Amino acid sequence: MLEKINRAAEYLRSRIAGFQPEVGIILGTGLGGFADKIAAEAIVDYKDIPEFPQSTVKGHAGQMIFGTIAGRRVVAMQGRFHYYEGYAMSQVTLPVRVMAQLGIRYLFVSNASGGINPTFRVGDLMIITDHINLLPNPLIGPNLEELGPRFPDMHNCYDKELIALATKIAEDEHIKLQYGVYVGGTGPTFETQAEYRYFKVIGGDAAGMSTVPEVIVARHMSIPVFGVSVITNCGLSDEVGDHEDVQLQGRKAGVRMETLFCKMIENLK
Ligand code: HPA
Repeated sequence: MLEKINRAAEYLRSRIAGFQPEVGIILGTGLGGFADKIAAEAIVDYKDIPEFPQSTVKGHAGQMIFGTIAGRRVVAMQGRFHYYEGYAMSQVTLPVRVMAQLGIRYLFVSNASGGINPTFRVGDLMIITDHINLLPNPLIGPNLEELGPRFPDMHNCYDKELIALATKIAEDEHIKLQYGVYVGGTGPTFETQAEYRYFKVIGGDAAGMSTVPEVIVARHMSIPVFGVSVITNCGLSDEVGDHEDVQLQGRKAGVRMETLFCKMIENLK
């Protein structure tokens, strides 16, 4: 595993000539437009990175963009790897390990998700305050002691200071925010009505198929995490989930998410 991480990181270093990203950003379904906010210095296709799987989902471009936002050095992943694509959890989370190897000090994650909280509306942004993991844990297997502990603490997975910063910026920018618990399942099916109800009962506010593995791996390495879900459908209503609609709602709300991420990055310590 360490060899794979190092091989990918070495290759990326050869492409970015001394550029050291401070912030890693994972762009979820339909949110890849954020890449336009980055003054790019290097763009690397996943297919060229040793050990990287290929992204197979519509709406995910499959490239890493290195550059600056308001003078801060970032690396953004346009497209991520999902467990439902058939990858091992070690592959799903490899990019986070690699970004950590390149020196990121923060991880920003985003996704499209289904609202479970009945007060949520399509197009809302939900700040992830906590999660419930219904995917296999990505840390199962030998522990990489060099990177983090065998039994990592998962209190405060989502950094409170970053959430406070988001709240302040959203007020200044008049962006409506929701807050809640993200339930990460395997997909690729959307949930049944009974499953959405179950997710609500166990304390979930939004359901998705990603994010949790990457967050667990980042927290294993003690990297502070900030996460946002774009609510693209409301699970407890009668409407049916559809990938086209998820992408459209994602793009609309994505504009607000872009503003939030950019201002936050500008104001990071
Ligand atoms: N469930 C799971 N993942 C999703 C959903 C959903 O309702 N909407 C967008 N991604």
